[in-house]
Amino acid sequence: MRVAASLLLIAVGALGAPVTSLPGYDGKLPFASDSGYIAVDSSPHTKHMFYWMVYADGVPAEQAPTVLWLTGGPGCSSLYAFMTEHGPLHNSGNGTLVQNPYSWNKAPANIVYLEAPVGVGYSWAEDGNYSTGDNETARVNLGVLLGLADRFPHIRSNDLYIAGESYAGHYVPQLANAVVQANVANPAKALPLRGWMVGNPSWSFDDGSHYFDFMQLHSIIDRADYRAALATCGGSMAPPRSAACDAALAVLRNQTIGINPYNVIGKCNGKPSLTGGCFTQQAVADAESSRLSRPESSWAEASGPRGLAQTFVPCIDVTPAVDYFDRSDVRAALHVDANAFAWDVCSQHVEYRYYAHTVAPIYADLVPSHRVLVYSGDVDSCVPFPGTQDNVDALGYPLVDGWKPWTVGGQIAGFQRSYAVGAKGSLAWASVRGASHMVPNTKPAEALAMFERFLATGMPA
Ligand SMILES: *[C@@H]1O[C@H](CO)[C@@H](O)[C@H](O)[C@H]1NC(C)=O
Ligand SMILES: *[C@@H]1O[C@H](CO)[C@@H](O)[C@H](O)[C@H]1NC(C)=O
Ligand SMILES: *[C@@H]1O[C@H](CO)[C@@H](O)[C@H](O)[C@H]1NC(C)=O
Ligand SMILES: *[C@@H]1O[C@H](CO)[C@@H](O)[C@H](O)[C@H]1NC(C)=O
Repeated sequence: MRVAASLLLIAVGALGAPVTSLPGYDGKLPFASDSGYIAVDSSPHTKHMFYWMVYADGVPAEQAPTVLWLTGGPGCSSLYAFMTEHGPLHNSGNGTLVQNPYSWNKAPANIVYLEAPVGVGYSWAEDGNYSTGDNETARVNLGVLLGLADRFPHIRSNDLYIAGESYAGHYVPQLANAVVQANVANPAKALPLRGWMVGNPSWSFDDGSHYFDFMQLHSIIDRADYRAALATCGGSMAPPRSAACDAALAVLRNQTIGINPYNVIGKCNGKPSLTGGCFTQQAVADAESSRLSRPESSWAEASGPRGLAQTFVPCIDVTPAVDYFDRSDVRAALHVDANAFAWDVCSQHVEYRYYAHTVAPIYADLVPSHRVLVYSGDVDSCVPFPGTQDNVDALGYPLVDGWKPWTVGGQIAGFQRSYAVGAKGSLAWASVRGASHMVPNTKPAEALAMFERFLATGMPA
């Protein structure tokens, strides 16, 4: 009987269904949405991938583009972005939900929040295998997109974009690449991918190379110590590093403890980073040191019990979101399968073991035929803007019109550089002034304006 009951639950969860009410919000929801699972692979290795599709505000779904959102980590949940960044309802902190006037479905666009890789949030694996990496994540996410497009025909008839932040700087272009390859292999099932957008994106191992520089210019670390460390490190803080350089950097890192790495001018709420800085960034830096002993490889493997996966979110109090998504009435309202884990912002299950050294080759391949925007919240130290700007610049495309402000409400919201990539694509990098790692959380109006302009023209200015 127990087996039969759990099979029934799997079947119900697998269907997906409209979300008609949510605990904490009185009355009819101010948006239409559908949530449930897309099954990828067959039993006993089925991955039950949880999605929540928020329909476009004000227009029928059939008349709006689709945007798949992926939060980074690796191992953190897109539902956290729904709740604290660009979803139509936000958690007020006391269990009630309040409307977000800057919800991205107002662009208008159908926004799909996907919990990936398997093991994140409500997504779960039948065989209990949560070991994964970049290739496997892209493969499974492609399976989800194809499954969604079969279930929701409007996905095949409108422009499709992929968006995300942080470690999704890997997920997003890698999924775009998988889509392009699948489209060639099976044109009958082609997905109308138009482009992608990534915020404060992990890109290559050089992302962190401007970290100390950025911190000393924000007067968070001592300039004298910074200059001494730079000398000890022989002029570059990038790996590989001598033991003396590592020791000098440990002193600098120690000075950052208590600072919110996602927003260096904001408050540190919740548990601070134990060693300073951004947990994942440090893991990447350490892994990079070992990778460089095998310079022939453009892919790296992360050892340890969890690999590269993010285990906690320093300086952000995530309890309201965790408390909310763990409620049994919320799980029921969202059609969450009984087999799913207790929800967490960053998964305690995912083992992220295999990742690309750089995603630059995918940009080089696909930018000429796609619309691409890379943006940086400029008070984030996890993926500091100078490294991202350099990464985009290093693709080598000529500038169109150089440094240019973009404005919202008559104020400069950020600056932009755009590049000539050919008539079928577009490429821009943009900063968002005063925005954190999670840009729409700190600059919601500017983020929505940027998103709308991206869908309309490819760039905010
Ligand atoms: C919860 O927070 C919202 C928004 O801040 C507020 O309007 C509401 O009164 C609060 N409810 C309780 C029970 O404290
Ligand atoms: C778990 O899944 C990964 C990714 O597909 C695969 O490489 C690995 O072999 C699997 N492990 C087991 C024990 O099946
Ligand atoms: C991942 O994909 C890359 C690029 O196609 C390939 O070189 C690499 O061998 C793959 N790794 C695994 C573990 O599949
Ligand atoms: C780290 O900073 C604290 C003071 O904030 C100091 O007591 C400690 O010695 C420092 N440790 C290192 C390794 O610099």
